[in-house]
Amino acid sequence: MKSDYRKNKHSENKKRKDRDKKEIKLRGKNIQPGRTGKRSLKHKETGVSETNGPVNKISFEKPGNFLYPLPAVMVSCAGVDGKPNIITVAWAGTVCTNPPMLSVSIRKERYSYDLIRETGEFVVNLTNRKLAGAADYCGCRSGRDHDKFAECCLTPGKSEHISAPSIQEAPVSIECKVRQVIPLGSHDMFLAEVLGIQVDAGYMDEKKTLHLENADLITYSHGKYFTLGNMIGTFGYSVRRKK
Ligand SMILES: Cc1cc2nc3c(=O)[nH]c(=O)nc-3n(C[C@H](O)[C@H](O)[C@H](O)COP(=O)(O)O)c2cc1C
Repeated sequence: MKSDYRKNKHSENKKRKDRDKKEIKLRGKNIQPGRTGKRSLKHKETGVSETNGPVNKISFEKPGNFLYPLPAVMVSCAGVDGKPNIITVAWAGTVCTNPPMLSVSIRKERYSYDLIRETGEFVVNLTNRKLAGAADYCGCRSGRDHDKFAECCLTPGKSEHISAPSIQEAPVSIECKVRQVIPLGSHDMFLAEVLGIQVDAGYMDEKKTLHLENADLITYSHGKYFTLGNMIGTFGYSVRRKK
């Protein structure tokens, strides 16, 4: 017969082993993105949930640009001599609704920087799956020694409000006039007003509603290009939903 001491020791050891096993299991789970092993709850009143629960976050080794996903747009511009060029820009965003304004941040050393500085004009062209290769190319070659329109088989289009050309093959072209240039460090931010929009008529229905979801747009996230996934809701859907 086992002594009480040995019995207790045995049960303590078993408990410790079970705890260790549990911890190892959990640690294993923690390295899977989006899971800590805790279940997420659905809010009784709002019905909002659909997460995997809190995730196990660790500090990334160095702070940097992490606002992803981003658009990878092709910015077309032209010199005062009219020679067109394209630069791919991911540091781009909408900054104001009224007046409609956007920003693109460009390094001083880019060939396009001087063109945009001199003319105060550029066109932001949205990119889709078919334009992905050209967008990458225009982001790796300089207009100083390449005719990127020709080399990417692209057509300069006539803009309605500015002299800078659009890219005829792009689903949407946004004509912009520079209002302010803000030096930030590595990049200067061009704050620009949107003067005109040209969209591929193929994405408009008979009621003149734009179906941008059919344009096969792409996005850029941490060095990689992606097409957009499935539509999972529309603006305000979480509060419209029937409980
Ligand atoms: C996906 C992608 C995003 C880029 N984003 C920017 C950007 O936001 N600002 C910038 O100055 N350069 C950016 N670049 C780099 C320029 O596009 C690249 O240096 C280009 O060759 C400059 O062309 P240019 O000398 O004809 O102006 C990006 C490149 C790629 C591939």
